[in-house]
Amino acid sequence: MMTVVLLAAMEKGLLLMLVLLCAAMAVGLHEAWSLKRGPLGWIVSALLALVGGAAGSFVSSTVLEASIMAVGERTAPLVQSLGLPLMGAMVLLGSWGALRIDGLDDATRERLRAAWSARVAAEYRSMVVFSELLARMPEAGLPLEVSCAASRLVADEARHTEHCARLAEALGGRADATIDDGDLRLDDASLPARLFVARWTASMFCVGEAASVGLLQALAREATDPCVGAVVGVLLRDESLHDRFGWALARTVFPALSDDEREWLGVDLAFAFAHYERMHGRALRPDGAALPDDPADADSYAGASHGVIDPARYARAWYGRLDAVILPGLAALGVPAYEAWALRHEAR
Ligand SMILES: [Fe+2]
Ligand SMILES: [Fe+2]
Repeated sequence: MMTVVLLAAMEKGLLLMLVLLCAAMAVGLHEAWSLKRGPLGWIVSALLALVGGAAGSFVSSTVLEASIMAVGERTAPLVQSLGLPLMGAMVLLGSWGALRIDGLDDATRERLRAAWSARVAAEYRSMVVFSELLARMPEAGLPLEVSCAASRLVADEARHTEHCARLAEALGGRADATIDDGDLRLDDASLPARLFVARWTASMFCVGEAASVGLLQALAREATDPCVGAVVGVLLRDESLHDRFGWALARTVFPALSDDEREWLGVDLAFAFAHYERMHGRALRPDGAALPDDPADADSYAGASHGVIDPARYARAWYGRLDAVILPGLAALGVPAYEAWALRHEAR
C-alpha cells in the first residue's frame, strides 16, 4: 500500500514538475520582457530560470518524498497534499533566485544599468570624435605613424561601446543610450585642421582620456564581479594607452600654435572643464579647497562590485587626476589650463 501511495505521489509529482518548469520558464521570459533584454538576454533569462526552477524542484521533491516515507501510510496523503503547493513555491523561488544570483536589488540593478548605458553613449561618442580626428590628421600635416596609431583608437572605442552595451544588456537594457544627431558630426569646415586637431586633443585626450585612467583605476579596485572586472580591466588597459598617445599628440601639436591660438584653445578648454566637472566631479570640491574626503563607508556602496562606485570617491579620483596630471600637463605645454579651469563657471 505504501508503494502505491509513493507511486501515485511520484506520478502526480512528475506532472506537477512539468507544469512548474513551464511556470519557471514563464518567470524567465517575463523577466526578459519586462527588462527589455536583447535576444541573448532572453535566452540567458530563460535558461537561468529553468536551472533555478529545476534546483528548487529537486530540493522540494526530495524533502517531500522523505516526509511521505517518514509519516507512514495514514498521514502520507495529507503530507502529499500539503507538500505539493510548497514544492510549487520552491520551484518558482528557485527560478526567481537564479535570475538574481548576482545579489543585486532592483534599485541597484537599475542604477548600474543606467550607468553602463550612459557609458555606451560616451564610448560611442569617443569613437565618433576619434574618427573625425583621424580624418583630419593628414590635412593637419601629422606624420603617417600618428594616423596609424590613431586608427587603433577608433577600433578600441568601438570595442568599448560593445563591451559596455553587453553589460548594460545583462543588467536590463540600453534603450536610453542615445546620442543626438548633432553629436554625431563634429567637423567644422571653418576651423583649420590643425586647430580642429588641437581642440579635440586638448579636450578628448588631455582631459577626457587622462581623467578616464584615474576613474577606471578607482572602479577597478572595487569591481569584484568577474565579468565587470574583466570589462573594466580592458577599458583601463586601452585608456592608459590612449592617454599616453594623447599627450604625445599634444606635444606634437601644441608647440606649433601661436599665442593667440593658445589663448583661443584655453577658452575652448573652459567648456571642456565645465562638461567634465559636471560629469565626474559633480562640483563636490569648491575652488581652492582640498580633495573631497574619501568616504569611510564607501567600501559597502551598493553596486561598487559592478563598476559604479560612491560618487564622492569617484569625484575624488577625478579631482586627483585633474590636479596631478591634467592641469600641470597642459600648462607645461603652454596651454593656459589654470586660467581655463578658473573660467569654467562662465562656460556653461
Ligand atoms: Fe573608451
Ligand atoms: Fe579612450
